[in-house]
Amino acid sequence: MTPDSSPPLPKLTLPELAQRRSRGERIVMITAYDAPSARLADAAGVDVILVGDSAGTTVLGGTSTVPVTLDEMLVFTRAVVRGTRHALVVADMPFGSFQVSDVTAVESAIRLFKDAGADGVKLEGAGPMLSRVRAIAEAGIPVVGHIGLTPQSATLLGGYRAQGRTAAAARRLVDDAVALERAGCFAIVLEAVPSVVADSITAAVRIPTIGIGAGAGCSGQVLVWHDVLGLTEGRTPRFVKAYANLSADITRALATYAAEVRSGQFPDESHTYRMPDTELEEFEDRVVEAKK
Ligand code: KIV
Repeated sequence: MTPDSSPPLPKLTLPELAQRRSRGERIVMITAYDAPSARLADAAGVDVILVGDSAGTTVLGGTSTVPVTLDEMLVFTRAVVRGTRHALVVADMPFGSFQVSDVTAVESAIRLFKDAGADGVKLEGAGPMLSRVRAIAEAGIPVVGHIGLTPQSATLLGGYRAQGRTAAAARRLVDDAVALERAGCFAIVLEAVPSVVADSITAAVRIPTIGIGAGAGCSGQVLVWHDVLGLTEGRTPRFVKAYANLSADITRALATYAAEVRSGQFPDESHTYRMPDTELEEFEDRVVEAKK
């Protein structure tokens, strides 16, 4: 049930998503990596759940998304699909699962779409990756593009820094977005680009643009689960807004649990199973019997 107790929303469709962009209705995307989180996002009325390869840092504790494997993404994606009824589920294609050839890209996308049940896949980059997008879209799998700061290429980009800050780089991003739309993307994520560049891209394409650090002019927004809920350790990028401080809440709850276990306050009678009295009497007799 949604928080206001109305019945669950029906499954969102790609044509409906496109119409939202045409009607100027903002699209809400968030990452999730497991079934309970997906259920919560769905209940909150989120439109698209991205099973991001950010799982490599947020869930697996690494320092980059590059080591994330297709097998890991399949596990996360299956879990999210099980927890989702309304939202579209888009699975990230991890580094190494699409770069080698169009054939490997389609094979990887098929695993996420057919075996794990994602509604679509997302892959980073344009240029040489355009033919991958085309091949996956022609195989009948919906594709989301991702340009600007593409974390899988952070080393090449000189770190996790905003992109498209020169006139030439900004122009390239607009061209890339148009090319991704022509190649068959149904949406494009724009990460860490100046808002004016995101606005130009949004004006240049008809598909939805989903911003993360790309200002308010995109067709929608995406943020990472742990950032939104205050579960990220250390500094977050300037484009993050935390809507809760769950790290503090969880630590407080766990400390209380630990204190109650240590003091004997938990478990109490209400958390304990009882035996019917007749069975208990017989059991006690048997224990006495066994001690003889
Ligand atoms: O992996 C991810 O979470 C992403 C979003 C930041 C867009 O790609």
